[in-house]
Amino acid sequence: MSLSLDKLVDAEAGMVSRELFVSQELFDLEQEYLFSRAWLFVGHESLVPNPDDFFVSRMGTDSVILTRDRQNQIQVLLNSCTHRGMKLCREDQGNTRIFACPYHGWSFTTDGKLSPIPGALTGVPGLKKHYYGELDTSAWRLRRVGKLVNYKGTIWATWDPDAPDFEEYLGDMRLYLDYALDHRDGSPGGSEVIAGVQKWRIGTNWKIIAENFNGDLYHDISHRSVDTIGIGPGGKGRRDPTPERTSISFKHLGHGVIGRAPYDTEGPYRPLFANHPEAEAYYRSLHEKREVLLAGKVRVLHSVGAIFPNTSVHGRQPRTIGVFHPISPTETEMWRFFLVDKDAPQAVKDAHRHYYLRYSGPGGMTESDDTENWTYATQACKGSIARKMPFNYQMGLGHAQPVPGLRGAVTTGEFTEENNRNYYKRWSQFVRGLSWDELMAASRAEQGV
Ligand code: FES
Ligand code: FE
Repeated sequence: MSLSLDKLVDAEAGMVSRELFVSQELFDLEQEYLFSRAWLFVGHESLVPNPDDFFVSRMGTDSVILTRDRQNQIQVLLNSCTHRGMKLCREDQGNTRIFACPYHGWSFTTDGKLSPIPGALTGVPGLKKHYYGELDTSAWRLRRVGKLVNYKGTIWATWDPDAPDFEEYLGDMRLYLDYALDHRDGSPGGSEVIAGVQKWRIGTNWKIIAENFNGDLYHDISHRSVDTIGIGPGGKGRRDPTPERTSISFKHLGHGVIGRAPYDTEGPYRPLFANHPEAEAYYRSLHEKREVLLAGKVRVLHSVGAIFPNTSVHGRQPRTIGVFHPISPTETEMWRFFLVDKDAPQAVKDAHRHYYLRYSGPGGMTESDDTENWTYATQACKGSIARKMPFNYQMGLGHAQPVPGLRGAVTTGEFTEENNRNYYKRWSQFVRGLSWDELMAASRAEQGV
């Protein structure tokens, strides 16, 4: 390693080297020590509603198959034939009982009747004749993830069987993920993915996207034109204002969010879809149900947040999950999954879909502002002079205070770079190859426990 990892991230001084956004060496270390161990978002159960359904996803630079087996269990398997590596599933999604390799014909199954082992190799052309019956097929099944969880319909996985459980990895960031996934009446779960998944490539490093979503309110200025046009569901701004927004950093885990600290009284209903009577009536009635269901209980809300390392969760408007898949140091494939209440009337789902398209994705007016910023910032890191100048993350340095009700969380108020400093600190711990014991000890030390 020609770069000194200790010097790349200086969270105490609020500086991060531009090498993080262009270096192939660091990109390779990220694959080795971060993406092979961290919990990653893979998809949503509503993408594979029936047995044998599959959805091709990614974990870092690896292609994976999210599938529902005949026993109704969700599985995540490496999308690479164990013979010579051919990509087994080349469609984005579909339904198949057998994953048959188009190269030499090996076939793998998730059908428990054919084999109790998901991804078992059950078909090898010429097994008796060419291999003399000597191939140990049990040793050549598809690689499965180390751990997998279905959290309120969202599927998360890690390759590392020794990783801590998902909820420990999330910490109290879980409350904000819940807000995005729970029904708008406050009952647990009940969301689904609508209208397919948007996918597009951006000429940027994946971490530039992550830091934007984990707490960069400061860049609101770049959305001034969208705010002026008024694409929001209420006909103003780009979204309706989030009340009492604070930038909150889960310092010890690398997650960050812009939203409201825990509270227990909802306050009066604020119109959401002023230009759409049916959607407006839906949300007004849900607000009343929510008041009853959550009476006296602590709850949160947020507009946007990021779960370390590469997933954003947008709780209010648009209500989405974004994933930034690393392709190369300077290229990222962005995926957006859009959420709605599963039992919402179709007209309400449509109102959301129209708003999501106005806002997000390569054609969305807000997201295209962001894409332009990320692309030019990455390009600027390639220059031989520019590359030697660190990025500045000094806003709010030394002013962090604990957030009551959230373990390990700190804030310096509405605008800050505290979230980003802590994100890169966590990144550096992973990329330096700290063991899980060391990572969790570092988390405890940050919390002072
Ligand atoms: Fe799949 Fe040869 S690569 S059967
Ligand atoms: Fe933005």
